[in-house]
Amino acid sequence: MGGKPLAETDPEAWQTVGPSAIPFAPGWPAPKAADRSDLDRLRGAFVEAAQRACRAGFDLVEVHGAHGYLLHEFLSPLANQRTDEYGGSLENRMRFPLEVLRAVRQAVGQDMPLGMRISATDWVDGGFNPDEAVRFVAAAKAEGVDYVCVSSGGMAPQGLPPVASGGIAPGYQVPFADRIRRETGMTTRAVGLIVEPRQAEAIIAEGRADFVALARAFLDDPRWVWHAADTLGASAVAPCPPQYRRARPEQWPGAGMRALADAAARA
Ligand SMILES: Cc1cc2nc3c(=O)[nH]c(=O)nc-3n(C[C@H](O)[C@H](O)[C@H](O)COP(=O)(O)O)c2cc1C
Repeated sequence: MGGKPLAETDPEAWQTVGPSAIPFAPGWPAPKAADRSDLDRLRGAFVEAAQRACRAGFDLVEVHGAHGYLLHEFLSPLANQRTDEYGGSLENRMRFPLEVLRAVRQAVGQDMPLGMRISATDWVDGGFNPDEAVRFVAAAKAEGVDYVCVSSGGMAPQGLPPVASGGIAPGYQVPFADRIRRETGMTTRAVGLIVEPRQAEAIIAEGRADFVALARAFLDDPRWVWHAADTLGASAVAPCPPQYRRARPEQWPGAGMRALADAAARA
């Protein structure tokens, strides 16, 4: 809450579980290192969550393996310092995430699109990195994963893209999606500071990813898709409820005024 852990005395606090008993940062509570029964329970929890998603009518299931969450922790040598068959080499660190993917694929059936979100790098020396991400995605593909959403970071507080290489710049995670797509043939989704319609379009048109996802641009503008269609000259790509049609360019001259004003200000 508020970017900090719950106090251990907080009645709502719970015992977290991870590959190793290593806290996220100094002052954070250490998770319990998962034992055999924890691994079985956790794999089962992923399966049950996927089954609930199917029952609820979702059109796809996406397993979260990014941003320092459990499966990312297993992949990362920073969080995973196990000495059993689930730690050490990349092959061992991939073992639990791949077991989860196998179990989820089996549970949801072959026809349900199955994706995974990954962090392609921890942005920390000695952490999970793009070379390992390529090898992991190839193995995930063999388990029947249909696409990956390529994000980054979340493993360590200092794990941020270096300012020297551009920092958090527009599309800063796209190169990872691009590389994974080229080297594994996996369908990829690019994400992260994709804001402008032409920027989003270029990523797809240049074959750097198969699709894109936007978060904050949609918080800023819930009608982003309509406005992108206007910018790119596409005909209606999303259903427009009748009560909104009066504000669309076909019926409202004001729709183009902001763009015109921006262009005039720049001229
Ligand atoms: C309010 C908010 C909540 C988010 N929650 C999650 C989350 O629960 N899981 C996750 O993987 N990413 C989460 N994200 C990250 C987004 O999925 C996305 O990767 C990130 O915002 C970068 O994309 P953007 O530049 O288009 O916003 C969240 C982002 C925002 C703004």
